[in-house]
Amino acid sequence: MAFKIGQLNIENQIILAPMAGVSNSPFRILSRNYGAGLVFAEMVSDKGLLYENEKTKKLLYMTDIEKPMAQQIFGSDLETMVNAAIYIDKHSNCDIIDINMGCPVPKVAIKAQAGASLMKNPDLIYDIVREIVKKVSKPVTVKIRSGWDHSSVNAVEVAKRIEAAGSSAITVHARTRSQGYSGLADLDVIKAVKEAVNIPVIGNGDVIDGPSAKRMLDYTGCDAVMIGRGALGNPWIFREINAYLKDGVHLPRPTHQEIKEMMIMHLDSLVELKGEHTGVLEMRSHGPWYLKGIEHASSLRKQLSQAKTRNEFVQYVDDFFKHHA
Ligand SMILES: Cc1cc2nc3c(=O)[nH]c(=O)nc-3n(C[C@H](O)[C@H](O)[C@H](O)COP(=O)(O)O)c2cc1C
Repeated sequence: MAFKIGQLNIENQIILAPMAGVSNSPFRILSRNYGAGLVFAEMVSDKGLLYENEKTKKLLYMTDIEKPMAQQIFGSDLETMVNAAIYIDKHSNCDIIDINMGCPVPKVAIKAQAGASLMKNPDLIYDIVREIVKKVSKPVTVKIRSGWDHSSVNAVEVAKRIEAAGSSAITVHARTRSQGYSGLADLDVIKAVKEAVNIPVIGNGDVIDGPSAKRMLDYTGCDAVMIGRGALGNPWIFREINAYLKDGVHLPRPTHQEIKEMMIMHLDSLVELKGEHTGVLEMRSHGPWYLKGIEHASSLRKQLSQAKTRNEFVQYVDDFFKHHA
């Protein structure tokens, strides 16, 4: 089912999550090709952008084929957040500017007082969103957690402020900051947010297949679901969830041949974008994700973690799948 964020039409309810080190252009293209209706880019630092940090700027790379795409920023300071949003509005061809209010990692949430740390300050949240909405032409969205910790679950209050400030949609990762990625996402929090606001609500947390996506949509009434870890080494997840939601069918899992081809395609697109050294290094993380659930792959995992060149990587993968067709 299609839905809208601002004036932007999103063709279905399945969204790729922003994931630092993962949701770059090649992975977003794979996700869109396999049926994600919208893709989020990895977060970029507001200060990194404004101080002309080359590494940060490279993170903005995108192509038109992955659109619609949301570029996420993180920060804590009103002025730099607004200026970073203006920078993206001008220089990026993305469709949405998303603000990170959920990142739990200490470097972001504690040292920089950004990400999930903002959940402790709804007034600042309101000011940041309102100012950014005023200054940019693209729709602005916000991604939050349930709250800072279990004694301060305030997603509903924060969501209302975000809506009042002019945000076009809100994503709720239904865990507190102190939970990190442990425990289960609390669907009741997403449901409560959906009941409290009129802008689209994207539910997030633990969607790993068709049934878990349907459960979140049905139980919470949210407009779409966002998928993070379930998409690691598994871009097929978008096609599978779409088929399940549309026709109630479980598509067969990809064959070993398809997995092999996807790994090589993913590797080649990373190498093309980032050069051989970085592309192969990044694929060292993706490799084991693609091999999840495949028997007798432990020696291949080890080989991939030491691969230095594109050809070496491909050789290891080819050899393995020749014997495990
Ligand atoms: C490797 C990794 C990187 C992530 N990076 C970001 C990020 O840059 N911005 C963000 O808002 N969330 C980030 N997240 C959180 C995800 O977007 C998502 O909220 C979380 O993983 C819960 O969804 P899931 O249960 O489907 O994985 C990251 C998660 C992972 C696993």
